[in-house]
Amino acid sequence: MGTINRQWILRERPVGVVGPQHFEQVKSPMPQPDLAAGQVLLKTLMLGFDPAMRGWLEDAPSYLPPVAIGEPMRASGVGQVIESNNDALPVGTLVQGLMNWQEYSIGDPKGMIPPTALPAGTPPNLALSVFGSTSLTAYFGLLDVGQPQPGETVLVSGAAGATGSVVAQIARLKGCRVVGLAGGQEKCEWLRTACKLDAVIDYKNEALQQRIGELCPEGVNVFFDNVGGETLEAGIAHMADFGRIVLCGAISGYNDVAPKPGPRNLMLLTSRRIRMQGFIVLDYLDRADEAIQALTEWVMNGEIAWREDIQEGFDKIPSTLQRLFIGSNVGKQLLKLADPE
Ligand SMILES: NC(=O)c1ccc[n+]([C@@H]2O[C@H](COP(=O)([O-])OP(=O)(O)OC[C@H]3O[C@@H](n4cnc5c(N)ncnc54)[C@H](OP(=O)(O)O)[C@@H]3O)[C@@H](O)[C@H]2O)c1
Repeated sequence: MGTINRQWILRERPVGVVGPQHFEQVKSPMPQPDLAAGQVLLKTLMLGFDPAMRGWLEDAPSYLPPVAIGEPMRASGVGQVIESNNDALPVGTLVQGLMNWQEYSIGDPKGMIPPTALPAGTPPNLALSVFGSTSLTAYFGLLDVGQPQPGETVLVSGAAGATGSVVAQIARLKGCRVVGLAGGQEKCEWLRTACKLDAVIDYKNEALQQRIGELCPEGVNVFFDNVGGETLEAGIAHMADFGRIVLCGAISGYNDVAPKPGPRNLMLLTSRRIRMQGFIVLDYLDRADEAIQALTEWVMNGEIAWREDIQEGFDKIPSTLQRLFIGSNVGKQLLKLADPE
């Protein structure tokens, strides 16, 4: 263990598309090892990247406070305990939680999402991908908020992504007919063959509105939307009576300088008696075991496919965040910093 802790701090708040220019790499001293009761010193092994991180850069109140200028950027991650003042997390334990873009950090039981031990033998990448927060989002967002019934039609946008691909496959496993939207032939092919969706629309190369209508002739019962904007409007247009729209995210607008006008067809919610509801996965953390148990069974039985996009190296951290917003990521976006010792 050296004496330097490399960090990527927020240099300025982005206006428009977030990029490496908004962050600065600095060398700070190692966190002090005189740990308070319950604290651990962590070496960061792997970072997860989520579109929500763009929102944490805005100077606006939200479900988590904004990252302050000059602070290391916040991120989900897996770390290894290298010093401990916590009997439940001895040296060597792999933990996950909310961390930062830095090589070492103090894990605090009073933190926003405190470090929790990974089940023995879980590789860091799996803890952040198929068993990570995007899969919990998929599980609770689809089943609790969307409430799909066997035989219903489920439409999923961002379907080839970490959240969307798990949503689409859980819907299939629950006996629904699933139509996915994704950008580009390769992602669509993966959704057809590996994820076994009933139909896929390449929104970058097909007429979205028309194709949803053709593929969902009796209307969409559950629309799980990760994209927002025109995609949300197109989905609303094809909802069936008493349908449910799960507002999971709106990535198409996260880098907009000014918000776009909302969907122009919201009155269809009234005439078709549609329920549209947002949710945040953090509200479901006390039920995480339920989702992990179900996901474990599906993974063990080969019923869920997933992909990981693992970048490597400290220098690449800010450019890796940008990959989410240009669709370069193929599956859950991760970055590896170190192997466990
Ligand atoms: N509510 C919650 O608690 C919660 C929790 C986690 C995630 N989310 C939301 O879930 C969504 C997916 O997150 P994720 O972590 O699973 O990321 P992801 O889907 O793995 O990656 C983002 C994908 O979004 C698509 N995309 C990017 N810009 C787009 C645009 N302008 N228009 C249409 N699609 C675009 C790209 O796929 P294509 O190549 O197919 O365009 C990209 O690969 C996000 O909206 C996120 O905010 C919500």
